[in-house]
Amino acid sequence: MDLNNVNVEEIVRQVLLSMEEKGQGAAAQPVPGTASAAGGTKSVPKTARVAMLTALEHYDIREFPIPEVGDDDILVKVEGCGICGTDAHEFKRDPFGLIPVALGHEGTGEIVRMGKNVKKDSAGKDLHIGDKVVTCMIFKDNPDITMFDLNKQNVGGADVYGLLPDDDIHLNGWFSDYIFIRGGSTVFNVSDLDLYSRILIEPCAVLIHAVERAKSTGILRFNSRVAVQGCGPIGLICIAILRTMGIQNIIAVDGEQKRLDFAKKLGASGTVNFKEFKGIEALTEGVKAAFGGYLADFAFQCTGSPAGHSNIYKFIRNGGGLCELGFFINGGDATINPHFDICSKEITTVGSWVYTLRDYATTFDFLKSAKRIGLPMEKLITHTFPLDQINEAHKTNLAMSGLKIAIINQ
Ligand SMILES: NC(=O)c1ccc[n+]([C@@H]2O[C@H](COP(=O)([O-])OP(=O)(O)OC[C@H]3O[C@@H](n4cnc5c(N)ncnc54)[C@H](O)[C@@H]3O)[C@@H](O)[C@H]2O)c1
Ligand SMILES: [Zn+2]
Repeated sequence: MDLNNVNVEEIVRQVLLSMEEKGQGAAAQPVPGTASAAGGTKSVPKTARVAMLTALEHYDIREFPIPEVGDDDILVKVEGCGICGTDAHEFKRDPFGLIPVALGHEGTGEIVRMGKNVKKDSAGKDLHIGDKVVTCMIFKDNPDITMFDLNKQNVGGADVYGLLPDDDIHLNGWFSDYIFIRGGSTVFNVSDLDLYSRILIEPCAVLIHAVERAKSTGILRFNSRVAVQGCGPIGLICIAILRTMGIQNIIAVDGEQKRLDFAKKLGASGTVNFKEFKGIEALTEGVKAAFGGYLADFAFQCTGSPAGHSNIYKFIRNGGGLCELGFFINGGDATINPHFDICSKEITTVGSWVYTLRDYATTFDFLKSAKRIGLPMEKLITHTFPLDQINEAHKTNLAMSGLKIAIINQ
């Protein structure tokens, strides 16, 4: 046969098409000349490593076959995944009773296979082989549903890759070489963001939601004096979002000087180290001094400390606002004085819990804007580990010596 006269591409296309018609799973293979082939073909091994939490404080690296991709599915080669506070709870106590489980929900990677029905992401953006994606909660209802709504009986429910019960597919979490995204999942094309930004999307969405909640009070304005209490990843991202929005007057409150120093790099105009003050009156004076003699118009409570909740009302002026987002889990009761703290000051308080799908889209824009104005968001990721060192990564996370710890695949 004279190979020069043979259009190899055309032959491959015909073979793949005929396989597809016979339902032999050829949908998983990108057909040259179609949208799914736009990024070229990607070779995929037969098996993938998955970090399975198999016992408390113990991951095993297991090897599973990579399943055939159905018409609506996507196979993603994982590039990296952040470790979240929820992963730390699972690692230590398994409160959701999921063990053995493939964890990791702050992940991102590259599409290597996609079914023939997959054309667009959840925001209507085209999807191609080679695109970088993230997933969000898998909602059965509408994009405005929050985790709060899920407490109501009439909402269909949501699942999150990285917190799914183990099943025959096994490739259900982002602490893995590959993740298998089923049809109907929420997936976003974020190819225009760098790897570290993509890993930070999930925690940033928490703060986009909190700022949206804060705005609903009508008190948060461009010229507001804003106190952010707690400078872990949550408080630091809060500061970066406020700064990116154009709010200039932000005071960060924490007891860790290193974190306070970083708060300044992310946009805080001043800091208050609570360890330098004895008693709440002195601390309140410290916050006031940092604002040039004024109390805060608005405050974000970003610690999981009941004492932090009790304190924050003191930092807020009469008629001011508060967003409490520090208690993702029950951290116990906090004491306040209803007369002095809320009633006579007419404080408007909102709670904020997780995010909606719409907050995700805002988050992508925020990350680009933050970069544009020079905020060093990537420095939030202080430690990275390869997948096979996931136990060490979790221990580093529990030691709280860094900020965001991430698994980065080679
Ligand atoms: N609302 C949500 O949807 C949501 C989502 C994720 C996390 N969270 C919560 O946000 C909180 C913060 O998360 P993180 O990852 O930044 O945690 P983190 O533990 O890394 O940071 C908390 C920071 O608060 C500081 N702090 C503790 N007590 C304080 C006090 N009394 N005054 C001032 N600072 C104090 C600590 O020094 C620390 O830097 C957690 O409690 C978590 O449950 C909420
Ligand atoms: Zn999380």
